[in-house]
Amino acid sequence: MHTPAISSRAKAFCERFGVELPILLAPMAGACPVPLSAALANAGSMGAMGAVLSTAEQIGQWMEAFRAQSHGPAQINLWVPDPPPLRDAAAEAATREFLGQWGPQVPATAGDAGPADFDAQLDALIHARPAVASTIMGVFSAAQVQRLKAAGIAWFACATTLDEALQAQAAGADAVVAQGMEAGGHRGAFDAAKAELQMSGLFALLPRLADKLQVPVIAAGGIADGRGVAAALLLGASAVQVGTAFLAADESDIPQVWRHALADAEPEGTRATRVFSGRLGRALDTPYVRAAEAADAPQPRPYPVQRGLTAGMRRDANAADHLDAMQAWAGQSAWLARRAPAAEIMRSMWAQAQALS
Ligand SMILES: Cc1cc2nc3c(=O)[nH]c(=O)nc-3n(C[C@H](O)[C@H](O)[C@H](O)COP(=O)(O)O)c2cc1C
Repeated sequence: MHTPAISSRAKAFCERFGVELPILLAPMAGACPVPLSAALANAGSMGAMGAVLSTAEQIGQWMEAFRAQSHGPAQINLWVPDPPPLRDAAAEAATREFLGQWGPQVPATAGDAGPADFDAQLDALIHARPAVASTIMGVFSAAQVQRLKAAGIAWFACATTLDEALQAQAAGADAVVAQGMEAGGHRGAFDAAKAELQMSGLFALLPRLADKLQVPVIAAGGIADGRGVAAALLLGASAVQVGTAFLAADESDIPQVWRHALADAEPEGTRATRVFSGRLGRALDTPYVRAAEAADAPQPRPYPVQRGLTAGMRRDANAADHLDAMQAWAGQSAWLARRAPAAEIMRSMWAQAQALS
């Protein structure tokens, strides 16, 4: 980077968090296989695991497998739990019937699948000692932050508004992830009900946070080539997190149809929707998404009830490599995703960003 302020900001971030370049793999639950993380960490970046659906044992196993393939740093990401969902048996029955048209019959108990045990996940995370613990959907408590600091683990907190970012900073976050609404996957609004009202694009959100926070800001959402990296650093980011562009990497293990569909998706070919989990998330606008978003379709149930209700449909769609009913998360820059080794994708992003700055 030729611009001194940008270059010193990115450099300070890299030195503090033990990476050689300011491009990180975004945590992606179900889409962060160890080889992808290891390839990036071995190329000077940081691995990432989205652990929301993982048991304590699986968190330990992931970290052990990662360490067998890389000596680099990694972040483990947890979802701060929402309050328990309100249940509505009649509405769930209507959703179950609707989902039966897109997958197997949905048993009445499917909506009972609760969230993972957050305390056990945090214990496992601290035991695994990644370089970074990251959160989405909320912040750690003071006692949890103390445990992380005592273990020498830094904390990255995802925020979708200035208010959330300030809460994270006040709670002790070492860096805040500014998640623009372009991002693939779940939207990190602390209050699930407000997600649709907080859909700021990264170009508006990032400088707002960078101007108000003392801690470094990591930009996420729609960054998929060197232009996006350079723009984010110029707008005040100290580093970027990239999700969707790495879904197409050789080391990614998502279903083939999902991977192939990324490059064909226009920005408006992705859609923020609650129809998979009950929490808002950006996915490819598939036939199931369109049908479930139609005015006459049943309203999605709250998280994690909807996630439980759609589990059979999602599982079968993955097994059959059938995109129509697949939970195919994708950000608005999916069209830039290209198949290549992850380290090559990252290096070429960084080379392009440096040439532009
Ligand atoms: C498949 C997928 C899964 C994701 N899972 C998580 C997750 O578990 N936790 C989280 O904090 N963010 C998750 N995200 C959001 C990413 O961390 C990041 O904000 C996003 O990918 C950035 O936007 P981009 O996809 O346009 O690069 C996920 C994103 C994708 C695409």
